Amino acid sequence: PVAGVVAAHVRDVPDFPQPGVVFKDLTPLFVAPEAWDRVLTALADGRHGEVDLVAGVEARGFVVGAALARVLGTGFVPVRKAGKLPGDVVAATYGLEYGEATIEVQTGAVPDGSRVLLVDDVLATGGTAVAAWDLLERVGARVVGFDVVVELGLLGGRDRLGVRPVRSLLTVG
Ligand code: PRP
Ligand code: MG
Repeated sequence: PVAGVVAAHVRDVPDFPQPGVVFKDLTPLFVAPEAWDRVLTALADGRHGEVDLVAGVEARGFVVGAALARVLGTGFVPVRKAGKLPGDVVAATYGLEYGEATIEVQTGAVPDGSRVLLVDDVLATGGTAVAAWDLLERVGARVVGFDVVVELGLLGGRDRLGVRPVRSLLTVG
């Protein structure tokens, strides 16, 4: 099963980027073409023809999102860290497991009512996902779900997302 493939390609890095945080490094997955292909196939399952656009959050969500968009034959919407996108944007600030961040989406990036699938590498506290989801809705998207490769089950991200549907390929403590 794909969960085992993910588990075999995630590297735990203790105390990064700060003491007490265990960083989930998916680089071993990104550099393994067969494993990565299996993960993308699993993420795409049930989504073919159901999604108009894939959105991903800078930076690691770009790796997942751009590849998945190609598999699904959709476009890709970048959700970027503050100050990177030109033109009119909407912005949201949220708390992270470490620090605080502001992300932005361009107004006009998403045709009104588009079915958008939001993806990222990891779900931790859910702060990033909730902020990105709400930004996408503010620019006219109908967000159909939030999909991640790895979910950190103990940080309460799924609860924070509330009624928003969440799919993860692997849940770890
Ligand atoms: C990490 C990860 C997710 C987010 C998850 O990104 O890639 O986007 O944190 O955490 P949350 O569920 O608590 O919000 P990070 O902000 O570290 O930046 P990066 O993707 O640019 O590495
Ligand atoms: Mg990220």
